[in-house]
Amino acid sequence: MAKILILGGTTEARQLAERLAQRTDLEVTLSLAGRTTSPVVHAVPVRVGGFGGAEGLAGHLAVERIDALIDATHPYANVISANAAAAARKAAVPFVALHRPPWKAVAGDRWVDVSDTRAAVQAIGPHSRNVFVALGRNELAPFSTAPQHHYLIRSVDPVDPPLPLAHVTYITARGPFSEASDRALMTTHRIEVVISKNSGGSAAYGKIAAARALGIEVIMPRRPPAPDAPAAETVDDAIAWLDHALTSAAARGV
Ligand SMILES: NC(=O)c1ccc[n+]([C@@H]2O[C@H](COP(=O)([O-])OP(=O)(O)OC[C@H]3O[C@@H](n4cnc5c(N)ncnc54)[C@H](OP(=O)(O)O)[C@@H]3O)[C@@H](O)[C@H]2O)c1
Repeated sequence: MAKILILGGTTEARQLAERLAQRTDLEVTLSLAGRTTSPVVHAVPVRVGGFGGAEGLAGHLAVERIDALIDATHPYANVISANAAAAARKAAVPFVALHRPPWKAVAGDRWVDVSDTRAAVQAIGPHSRNVFVALGRNELAPFSTAPQHHYLIRSVDPVDPPLPLAHVTYITARGPFSEASDRALMTTHRIEVVISKNSGGSAAYGKIAAARALGIEVIMPRRPPAPDAPAAETVDDAIAWLDHALTSAAARGV
C-alpha cells in the first residue's frame, strides 16, 4: 500500500480524497489546518493542525513513510504551499500542487486588481459605501482602518471577537453559493462593492456572477505566486500524476 498525504481545506481536496478512498492500493490521509470548528466530513482519515513549518512537514513525511504528497490547499494558502514544496524536496517525496485555475474576467465584469487585503481596503475609497466582504475571518483586521463603510461580512464560522466597527452585519454560511442567492443578498443589502479573492472553481463564483449582473465592482486581492513545483489543475490530473509517480518509483525499486 502506498501512503499518500493530501494537504486539504478545499473542495478539490475533498473530491480527491473521495476518489482515492475507493482504491485498495493506497492508504490516504488528509491534513487540515484546523481553521473551521466543524469541517466537512471526508472519505479518508483526517489529521488536524500545523506540522511546524517546512522542517516539521519534512520530518512528518519521513516518519510516516509517505510515498507521495499532494498539496490541495487553497490557492491563497501560500505559506503551507511553499512549505510543502520545500519539505517534499528535503524528504525526496514525489510532490504535486493541485490548485484550481483562477477565474477569468468576461464582458461586464468590473474587477479591480489589488496586491492584498490592505490595498483592497484602500481601493474601496474614502467615502462611505456598502461593501460585501467574502474573505476568511482571519483576514479581516485591515477593515478596521476604514470605519466609514457599511460592511456585510460572510464567513464559515463567526467572527470572534467582532471587528471594532460601527456598521457591520455578519452572516455565517458555508458555500456553495448560487448566483441567484448572492444576487438577492447583495440587492437586499444594497451592496455597491464586493471584496473577493480570485479563488477559481464554482462554489464561490455566485458572487462574481451576481456582481456582474448588478454592474457592481469586485475588488480582488491578487493570487500569491505558486511555488516552483509540478502542478495540476484538476482532480483527474492529480490522480494521473500520482499513478505516474507511483509507477516510476516502483520501476526504480524505491
Ligand atoms: N487562505 C485562504 O484563502 C483559504 C480559503 C479557504 C480555505 N483555506 C484552507 O485553510 C487552511 C489554512 O489556510 P491559510 O491561508 O491559513 O494557510 P497558510 O497561511 O498557507 O498556512 C499557515 C500555516 O497553517 C498550517 N496549515 C495550513 N494548511 C494546513 C493543512 N492543510 N494541514 C496542516 N497545516 C496546515 C501550517 O502550519 P505549520 O507551519 O505549523 O505546518 C501553515 O504554515 C488551508 O488548509 C487552506 O486550504 C484557505
